[in-house]
Amino acid sequence: MSKNYTQSPLPFQGQKRRFVKHFKTSLKCYNDKYIFIDLFGGSGLLSHTVKTVFPNAKVVYNDFDNFKQRLNAIESTNKLVAELREILKDYPCDKRITGKHRDDVLNLLKQADESGYMDWITLSSSLKFSMNYGTCLKDFTNDTLYNKVRLSDYNADDYLQGVEFVRKDYKALFNEYKELDNVVFLVDPPYLSTDSSTYGFDGYWRLQDYLDVLFVLVNQNYFYFTSDKSQIVELCDWISNVSTTANPFADATRVNVSETASHNAKYTDIMYHYKKDK
Ligand SMILES: C[S@@+](CC[C@H](N)C(=O)[O-])C[C@H]1O[C@@H](n2cnc3c(N)ncnc32)[C@H](O)[C@@H]1O
Repeated sequence: MSKNYTQSPLPFQGQKRRFVKHFKTSLKCYNDKYIFIDLFGGSGLLSHTVKTVFPNAKVVYNDFDNFKQRLNAIESTNKLVAELREILKDYPCDKRITGKHRDDVLNLLKQADESGYMDWITLSSSLKFSMNYGTCLKDFTNDTLYNKVRLSDYNADDYLQGVEFVRKDYKALFNEYKELDNVVFLVDPPYLSTDSSTYGFDGYWRLQDYLDVLFVLVNQNYFYFTSDKSQIVELCDWISNVSTTANPFADATRVNVSETASHNAKYTDIMYHYKKDK
């Protein structure tokens, strides 16, 4: 591998660039006989990093969002950014784009949109403030734009060279490899209840989804990424500190009592009872 990337070559929300150094250090306890499965591949930064440490290892990158499409579009994205640079060459940096400059920028985006695929996420970092991303033309025409145009070209040469691409639900991928001894799972799910609009799926990660991911950690080699915002670690600590993880109602007897509050409001009261020495 000729080039080491310390961040994704294209903007990607949730990429693990702050972990690259620690991740590399922690990888040292493995070797290139291991298979690394990047279950939530995102920008591929973790897969790339494994390849820089173990160039001969098998690394499977789950490109659930079709990041490859954005990588393949780099040439046309660079061309567009160069045209934006030209339109805004005398415009003050970081300032709100107004008047004729705004019209010219939007005309350029409209024309480009009609002629093919657009990497809106990458363009966002040239026209919106950081952490603000658009995913379609409307997100630009209906929004304030700022001159944050990138000054250099994007480049992703050799970025995911030698990495195996797949695109499927993480559970299906996990099932394919879970029985192997020499496998390491890279587990970086979307954050709980946060905006996932820039990812290639419509879903919202609920607590249930987040908890389901924990099953892939049981008796496996893994790297798991989370945030204290999700409180998942706190929850796991709590579970391990209580004496039983079973449903406290599992062996109890349930009694339902139907109540009629008014002619159109019915509800059920429930009593569970459980005797230790039956
Ligand atoms: C936090 S990001 C991963 C970031 C990545 N580690 C990086 O450094 O760029 C989580 C990713 O999981 C993807 N994802 C969402 N649902 C998924 C599913 N059911 N199976 C696999 N990936 C999924 C999201 O689209 C997103 O790309």
